[in-house]
Amino acid sequence: MGNSIKGLVLITGTTSGVGLNTLKPLLRFGWDVIAVNRSNKRAIEIAQQFLTDSEMKNMNFIEIDLSDLDHVRNGCSEILKKFKKPINSIICNAAVYKPRLRKPERSPQGFENSMAVNHFGHFLLINLLLDNILSSEKEINVNGKTTKFKPRITILGTVTANYSELGGRIPIPAPADLGNLSGFKNGFLSPISMANGKRFKPGKAYKDSKLCNMVTVQELSKKYSNEKIIINSLYPGCVADTKLFRDTPWVFRFLFPIFQKFITKGYVSQRLAGERVAKIATFKKYAKPAVHWSWGNRQKFGRKAFSQKLSKRIIDSDISKQTIELTRKLVGLD
Ligand SMILES: NC(=O)c1ccc[n+]([C@@H]2O[C@H](COP(=O)([O-])OP(=O)(O)OC[C@H]3O[C@@H](n4cnc5c(N)ncnc54)[C@H](OP(=O)(O)O)[C@@H]3O)[C@@H](O)[C@H]2O)c1
Repeated sequence: MGNSIKGLVLITGTTSGVGLNTLKPLLRFGWDVIAVNRSNKRAIEIAQQFLTDSEMKNMNFIEIDLSDLDHVRNGCSEILKKFKKPINSIICNAAVYKPRLRKPERSPQGFENSMAVNHFGHFLLINLLLDNILSSEKEINVNGKTTKFKPRITILGTVTANYSELGGRIPIPAPADLGNLSGFKNGFLSPISMANGKRFKPGKAYKDSKLCNMVTVQELSKKYSNEKIIINSLYPGCVADTKLFRDTPWVFRFLFPIFQKFITKGYVSQRLAGERVAKIATFKKYAKPAVHWSWGNRQKFGRKAFSQKLSKRIIDSDISKQTIELTRKLVGLD
């Protein structure tokens, strides 16, 4: 007879796009889900439209605004109190992208907001839940079968943060690059808005935050034994019609999906992207440490996920190590 303990997976940002489309496959694979969003009311209303009543029974909602480190702390305490079983898998999916800002938006702690949401909020959340996830059940029930499961952390990366790929070298406004981290070293508060301490470039701020996400995966993987936890990232493909692009000009929003579908052939539907995320975060065959999973930039039917080569900017041990040390200080862990 199968073990009666179902797996518990936490995912951030489920009100739209990839996160919303990851819910159904996770539930179909037999997981209990914690959806972390900045408004529970909105997250529940949207989930109800998308999921069946019986699927909703396996959903739990926790309110955290990832831009606010105090919210992250309170939300994580709530999670640790509320759930009797530890979390088996964490998916860091939420993100903001505001390429048209003229000046930086600031988080409640005064940090440039896309770095605050995409990197700092997730970094703190992971660290506050790490002991919990490391203590999770090693055998869980997935689809009626008892399955050995190593704790997992999966972070959404992107092609534009990886200089090894063509998409990572696009010079508009500039490729992701943390430079010598002088912005982080000097406290990352106004007037500083970029990790490298240079002039604010909103599109680059997003790419830099995703670069930090991918650096986090590599550095945490070095720190924690692969026997204990599997940490990886993925690029699900270009999901060109999600709300991520809500702050781009309407002409861009109209043309970008067409361009990706018919010219680059990099387009992936929200549904397929969600399916990919759910599988990477829970299937045994993807339980390989420090892999950045990708299906390539030109989508081909039936193509399997592979380990994408990463740029020196992601795997450079000196800058990456400093990125993590400085992030720990900026989010108040050290
Ligand atoms: N779309 C693509 O082509 C693509 C490609 C590569 C990687 N990705 C990555 O995929 C992930 C999902 O992107 P998407 O395209 O699905 O974007 P999306 O539709 O805009 O979804 C973003 C999610 O993040 C949430 N979020 C934003 N700010 C938040 C905050 N302060 N606190 C908590 N949640 C917050 C949003 O919630 P609200 O409704 O509250 O704003 C929403 O649920 C991102 O990490 C992105 O970098 C996307």
